[in-house]
Amino acid sequence: MDENAASVPGNSRAEPTQVRRMFDAISPRYDLMNTVMTGGLHHRWRRLAARATLPRPGLLALDVGCGTGDMALALRAAGARAVVGVDIAPAMLRHALRKLDARGETGVTLLLGDALRLPFRDGTFDATATAFTLRNTADVHAALAEMRRVVRPGGRVVVLEGAETGGGPAGRAARLYLHRVVPLLGGIIAGAPRAYRYLPRSMSEFLAPDALADVMRAVGLRGVRYRVLMLGTVTVHVAAV
Ligand SMILES: C[S@@+](CC[C@H](N)C(=O)[O-])C[C@H]1O[C@@H](n2cnc3c(N)ncnc32)[C@H](O)[C@@H]1O
Repeated sequence: MDENAASVPGNSRAEPTQVRRMFDAISPRYDLMNTVMTGGLHHRWRRLAARATLPRPGLLALDVGCGTGDMALALRAAGARAVVGVDIAPAMLRHALRKLDARGETGVTLLLGDALRLPFRDGTFDATATAFTLRNTADVHAALAEMRRVVRPGGRVVVLEGAETGGGPAGRAARLYLHRVVPLLGGIIAGAPRAYRYLPRSMSEFLAPDALADVMRAVGLRGVRYRVLMLGTVTVHVAAV
């Protein structure tokens, strides 16, 4: 992969073309990096978020920023009747497609599309989730408003995100790991140290959990609550339309 071909967004105003190029460029090693960086725990966080998204089986779910498809698969495993995954990065979607094919998974449909202009009518889905995507969008408020719009009244909207909230020695250790070790791993494993420097930067620049909850309320979501996991580096926000 040509790391320099992929410009890396400045995050606070993530530029969609740069974001798309960066994820397309890292797509071949994206899954492996997730597993190495988190010791495999990323699957557990998605399972937790998927269960929070789907209070019962048989629902139609949307995965916003589906990437290589792991959240969509977690939603299926949590009982979704079917899942639609949307992403702006074609290469990430190609990896997702290969993964779905390899597993014989026919309940997930993938679409190229933008979280800020979801190509669905109001109230199309029973629920929606997004994993590690919101902080990469240019407008968190608009993305959440779109997620709310496409879910029927009573359905859930769930956000799984990377965060930098931990204080004390554990928080310092987490920050050291994210800002020093992860870029090294990103260089060695993915050949993309810049993309994996962007990752912790995008986490530290992202909304604090309370502020994200406020934006969710501001777009009209109800009953917003959240959990912080993994030394303050992962959050799961759950709300209802
Ligand atoms: C960190 S990856 C997360 C992928 C997947 N959700 C997961 O859990 O592994 C972020 C994904 O969001 C996608 N993305 C970023 N901005 C987007 C947007 N405006 N609309 C749709 N997808 C977007 C990227 O292309 C990328 O695949």
